[in-house]
Amino acid sequence: EKGGYDYFMLKEIAEQPKAVADTLLGRIDAAGNLTLDEVRISAAELREMDKVVIVACGTAFHSGLIAKYAIEHWTRIPCEVELASEFRYRDPILDAQTLVIAISQSGETMDTLMALRHAREQGAKVLAICNTNGSTIPRESDAVLYTHAGPEVAVASTKAFLTQLVACYLVALYLGQVRGTKWGDEIRAVIRDLSRIGGAVERVLETMEPVRALARSLAGKDTVLFLGRHVGYPVALEGALKLKELAYMHAEGFAAGELKHGPIALIEEDLPVVVVVPSPRGRSLLHDKIVSNIQEIRARGARTIVIAEEGDEAVEAYADHLIRIPVTPTLLQPLVATVPLQVFACELATARGNEVDQPRNLAKSVTVE
Ligand code: M6R
Repeated sequence: EKGGYDYFMLKEIAEQPKAVADTLLGRIDAAGNLTLDEVRISAAELREMDKVVIVACGTAFHSGLIAKYAIEHWTRIPCEVELASEFRYRDPILDAQTLVIAISQSGETMDTLMALRHAREQGAKVLAICNTNGSTIPRESDAVLYTHAGPEVAVASTKAFLTQLVACYLVALYLGQVRGTKWGDEIRAVIRDLSRIGGAVERVLETMEPVRALARSLAGKDTVLFLGRHVGYPVALEGALKLKELAYMHAEGFAAGELKHGPIALIEEDLPVVVVVPSPRGRSLLHDKIVSNIQEIRARGARTIVIAEEGDEAVEAYADHLIRIPVTPTLLQPLVATVPLQVFACELATARGNEVDQPRNLAKSVTVE
């Protein structure tokens, strides 16, 4: 059942190109247009929405954080993202013009379920993004967009995360389409980029041996830090979460710009710091900023592990270890940048003798609040 892999997690990491392709399948017509008729909230209702609120937990929450960038950029609707377990306790402001998106692999996470119930009681419309047909969260939502990752068995979420991202991009594009903030040509261009991502993930997977070797060499460390900016920031959070749950190591993700506001004090000789570098194209200001962040931490002794696009030469002088990812449009970069971090965490867990598929103290779906 593990298909020749030692762990379900490895199998599920390898299945990601297919999971991404399957989640796009049937949602794009022959002309390359988006067809999301399955979302049972009418275009008229979606045009009325003046706010999007995303609720989720753990890895699904990280996909929501990334979705915010796409939703706000493509639709110009304000979007908040909140941990489901915090959401209803602060008495959030919701009404019929609020679109709440509940993201959950299992569809059974109690915190997310309680958040969506609260949202519906306040009159908000709830769209579920879910990987499990007929589970509680989609059943209790107004509409659902299923991710087609297939069953995810390992406790650590991998392929579900990538497909949640794809589903979020599709929702963002759809909102842009019905609201007229994104036009056919632009939407088709993003869809073309999305259709190529499976191949890019495949290429990343083919080049993971040095990442595994690096992970093994760090098995004796206590702490690993992760830095990112823009959509790379939630990727850093996800890399840190994977390491905590699998390798039982102290791992933290930071927004790179926050370094000088405190975290830089943590940097000491030979501390591994993973940095997710945005594309040098387009938002080059952002890229330049993170290159100086890498310089700053390296000057203080950090061992820099840099994830950067192919052809990005500016990082070479400051990277102790360089992990290359294919050139990808900025907003979609998390789909490729996350993959090495999954492999890294899985290999570290193995090297430390941990149970990869069933980490201590954790359950695949958390059905208590
Ligand atoms: O089933 P869900 O997507 O609602 O689960 C949410 C989190 O419990 C889940 O993502 C958890 O953080 C994973 N173990 C992370 O790998």
